[in-house]
Amino acid sequence: MGTVSVVGAGYVGMVSAACLAERGHDVTVADKNTARIRLLGEGKVPFYEPGLDDLLERSRSRISFTVSTRNAVERSDLTFVSVSTPSRKDGAIDLSQIRSSVREIGRALRSKSQVKHLIVVRSTVVPGTTWHVIRPILERASGLRVGEGLSLAMQPEFLSQGNAIEDMLHPDRIVIGECDNEAGDRLETFYKEFHAGNAPPILRMNSTSAEVVKYAANAFLAMKVSFVNEIAGICERLEGVDVVRVAEAVGLDSRIGGRFLKAGVGFGGSCLPKDIRALDARAEELRFRSFLLPAILRVNDRQKRRVVQLARRLLGSLKGKRVALLGLSFKPDTDDMRGAPSVEIIGHLRRAGAKVVVYDPAAMQNARGLLGGKVSYAASLRECLRAADVCIVVTEWDEFKALSRDVLISEMNRPVLVDGRRMYDPEDFAGVAYAAIGLGPMSGMTCHIPCKERSIRQFTSRA
Ligand code: UDX
Repeated sequence: MGTVSVVGAGYVGMVSAACLAERGHDVTVADKNTARIRLLGEGKVPFYEPGLDDLLERSRSRISFTVSTRNAVERSDLTFVSVSTPSRKDGAIDLSQIRSSVREIGRALRSKSQVKHLIVVRSTVVPGTTWHVIRPILERASGLRVGEGLSLAMQPEFLSQGNAIEDMLHPDRIVIGECDNEAGDRLETFYKEFHAGNAPPILRMNSTSAEVVKYAANAFLAMKVSFVNEIAGICERLEGVDVVRVAEAVGLDSRIGGRFLKAGVGFGGSCLPKDIRALDARAEELRFRSFLLPAILRVNDRQKRRVVQLARRLLGSLKGKRVALLGLSFKPDTDDMRGAPSVEIIGHLRRAGAKVVVYDPAAMQNARGLLGGKVSYAASLRECLRAADVCIVVTEWDEFKALSRDVLISEMNRPVLVDGRRMYDPEDFAGVAYAAIGLGPMSGMTCHIPCKERSIRQFTSRA
């Protein structure tokens, strides 16, 4: 197994490095962040991803960490670049980190006279970047030409947080955007070995097409979420209609598929919102006006207001009310607060005059850095609920499944529940004022199907 380097010890870089080491490669990880490299050297992972600690521990002997990109490149023949590509204020992509990393890689290659080095861009970059921006920087810095002394490819990642190791080890497909034929051949062989005869479909194309694939995939996922949230808004206004039931039936159409059809408070995270903005900005640069991309974001923004409206519907004014907000991370099984809907929801609640108490099983520390004194922090689920006027569930953590009507009734000032993630069966909350995204009014409706089977029933509200 050859030696590989990974530049950028973020989420994608670390998951990739751990999986590569697990499959027998010697891996050198480089990152400019000294504190991060020190932590990783001590065996600590600076973010939460299920299974990553164990995987790194198992392959410790095969991974080394450095702050020097040059060292990492010199020790390897293949470099994966996974530095972050954040958004600028105007939504367009900020390529400054990838530009400087690639420049350094190029410079390191000047003094390296072994086999042709293969550089693989894993960072998400807008269409055209690898060919028109990265390639010229690399060629200038290295003095080599792509296809001659140097190989370059773009391979988008499709890792989903909380499931990233599984996604890396068993991807649906591998997309190779090659700038030169040899890059494609080498990477294809690399992944066939990595997957030991069990490789998923490998699709080869030019680098710009691969970049489009990444954005198109994320835009489609976000569109599904906004679509179901739009339908949820309609369902809420129709007696006896529940978006969960509707989405289940719609998703069983094999042309549509049931995944990413969970209505809720909207999508967040470090990728979907940022990537849609970046693609929209790139489309504009290319003089193409997208109608769909801005609409996906508008629906998503409204969703965070709608969950607050549901609380208002149950409680009346939120002024002076104590709101227990359950879940801060953008989705369960991560402590990541980037793009988390909770932040905007908290903003709306505070503007409405509410006092917000928050609890999250993993993201409390990150949330403190972001929210500071704007909210109070509870040490447990029960503490969060204590004396609250309404409970809003924002992230569907497993721990919250245990929430029962008895707990709500005993802990809260008044038992009022807004289910922002469709975690609960409304039937379990008799005696609680309950509202949920996508759940139409329950009263006066003739049940066409047995009530036990579906959640169409009248609830009594004590609020
Ligand atoms: C996403 C892509 O899935 C992944 O392929 C890409 O590489 C990076 O971006 P991630 O950001 O980890 O991954 O989260 P994802 O699981 O896609 O969820 C994104 C957001 O959508 C979350 O806030 C989630 O709660 C929300 N979501 C997802 C819904 O509201 N409903 C759904 O049905 C699915």
